[in-house]
Amino acid sequence: MSREILVCDHVTKVFTSGFLHKIEVRAVDDVSFTVKEGEIISLIGQSGSGKTTLGKIILRLLPPTSGNVIFNGKDIWNELKSKEDLKEYWRNVHAIFQNPMGSFNAFYKVDRVLNQALELRGIDPNSEEGIKLKEESLRAVGLNPGEILGKYPHQLSGGQLQRVMISRNWILKPKLLIADEAVSMLDVSTRGKIMELFDKLRKEIGSSIIFISHDIGLSYFISDRIFIMHRGRIVEEGTPEEVIDNPKDEYTKTLIASVPTIYRRWEDFEEV
Ligand SMILES: Nc1ncnc2c1ncn2[C@@H]1O[C@H](COP(=O)(O)OP(=O)(O)O)[C@@H](O)[C@H]1O
Ligand SMILES: [Mg+2]
Repeated sequence: MSREILVCDHVTKVFTSGFLHKIEVRAVDDVSFTVKEGEIISLIGQSGSGKTTLGKIILRLLPPTSGNVIFNGKDIWNELKSKEDLKEYWRNVHAIFQNPMGSFNAFYKVDRVLNQALELRGIDPNSEEGIKLKEESLRAVGLNPGEILGKYPHQLSGGQLQRVMISRNWILKPKLLIADEAVSMLDVSTRGKIMELFDKLRKEIGSSIIFISHDIGLSYFISDRIFIMHRGRIVEEGTPEEVIDNPKDEYTKTLIASVPTIYRRWEDFEEV
């Protein structure tokens, strides 16, 4: 782990609403942090703390009010201009969201999301290479291709669908993955197994991961560093041991107190 792949430099997002009486919400307030190659960082905070807004700014979906996001040495909001630049960016930076069902079109077989990933890489989904890659990527996330390919989304569980979404990363090999509440809707036993896949992705593909969650307990065993967000600001940061075992910030302490168990090891988690 070495080079910085992402730098957020004094990123701020202010939303303005209301007609006569303007109301300003500082959803993200002067946030700076870096992510190294192959590093997993967690952004943790309660609902409304600005995590998704920050994720969208990094995904280049929502412009910041001020500040800069530098990916691989390039300012994504000022230097990526052409369609090609953006396509290239989204090949390198991927997202997985909370509701796996929402990532699929109910009228298409689940194969479609894998075919689209192959097409993004310029590989014909029906070629020998395409078929092999689909099967390999599904196996990488613990799925049996024979049970998945040819199915419609409603025929699979939420956990299976989220695995299919994660399997795309074995095809696309992104440099950065943003997982926004990606396990929040899954049942507890599935959650741990999906978390393991993020670790596997980092090890096998070398992707950096920004894991976004309201649940500080989930971040303990997967993160190299944890950033606690409160009202748009990062109020505490450090290794899991520093932040969870020795929190300094009062807000961090309340987050920890609200988690029934801090899962310390995979084995503990699997038993829950
Ligand atoms: N499009 C928007 N317009 C106005 N306010 C917004 C918009 N998106 C988010 N917000 C506000 O910004 C704050 C942060 O929201 P969000 O980033 O979704 O937080 P989180 O993901 O941590 O729950 C909240 O107060 C939310 O109401
Ligand atoms: Mg959110």
